[in-house]
Amino acid sequence: MSLKNQVVLVTGAGNGIGEAIALAMAGEGATVAAADLDLNAAQRTAQKASAHGGPVLAIQADCGDVASIDAMVARVVAEFGRLDVIVNNAGVTRDAYIMDLTEADWDRIHRVNAKGVFFCLQRAAKEMIGQGGGRIINMASIAGRGFAGTSNAIYAASKGAVIALTKTAAQQLAQHNINVNSICPGVTMTDLVGNLIADRARSQGKTVEEVRAAFEKTIPLGRANEPADIAAMAVFLASPGARNITGQSYNVDGGLVTS
Ligand SMILES: NC(=O)c1ccc[n+]([C@@H]2O[C@H](COP(=O)([O-])OP(=O)(O)OC[C@H]3O[C@@H](n4cnc5c(N)ncnc54)[C@H](O)[C@@H]3O)[C@@H](O)[C@H]2O)c1
Repeated sequence: MSLKNQVVLVTGAGNGIGEAIALAMAGEGATVAAADLDLNAAQRTAQKASAHGGPVLAIQADCGDVASIDAMVARVVAEFGRLDVIVNNAGVTRDAYIMDLTEADWDRIHRVNAKGVFFCLQRAAKEMIGQGGGRIINMASIAGRGFAGTSNAIYAASKGAVIALTKTAAQQLAQHNINVNSICPGVTMTDLVGNLIADRARSQGKTVEEVRAAFEKTIPLGRANEPADIAAMAVFLASPGARNITGQSYNVDGGLVTS
């Protein structure tokens, strides 16, 4: 098990990609802290992760709020004594045409996706500097690389911010033996995408199945991701084999975007 005794904190761990990452990390022997805005969802994930035998913790946290982020990381360290890996996964969006987006959309989306990722990264790095190193994995998106099928332009900008932040953070934290990388998922079958497909089906007068099939037709490998496809990349980036990888953003998208 490549993550034996590593303490891993996953944000947005109550559902979808975050849940899959928490479970995959636990499967590799990690001690997992599952944080989510929704405490019940975090507890559900922690409960499932405990089946792998390691210690688990569920935390209610709002990753758009700096005080809440501070308390979340402090809780992990109080419980487990250290923090080896943080996966900054929590994110929000909605499906909208550029001309329909509002200031409230900008504030809601950037509060979690950009500001939240920055302050989670900074707070986790504070612990990692003190303990001699760590791994930071940020959840970006192919939206941040110009994917035309993105949910909206503000979301794309928030994910572009994550990709840029990953590079600068990697450069500045390398001296502390901290690796910073990001993952750019393509279309991944979670509630977030389920809601987006349902919205598009409504607005286009099509069935959910038709919209999903249209999505998958555009993917060169012909299939959307399952959350486990993203979790596999997260486990690799947290593992000893990735010790010399930093500042990178990896697409996991079946070939949708090739840059
Ligand atoms: N699903 C996709 O196709 C896809 C593609 C590219 C990138 N992503 C990114 O992957 C990440 C996870 O997406 P998902 O599809 O699993 O989403 P999801 O909506 O299924 O799950 C997101 C989880 O984050 C939690 N959350 C939301 N706001 C929070 C906050 N302020 N603080 C703490 N937790 C919060 C939610 O409660 C939920 O449990 C997001 O950053 C998303 O942008 C997803």
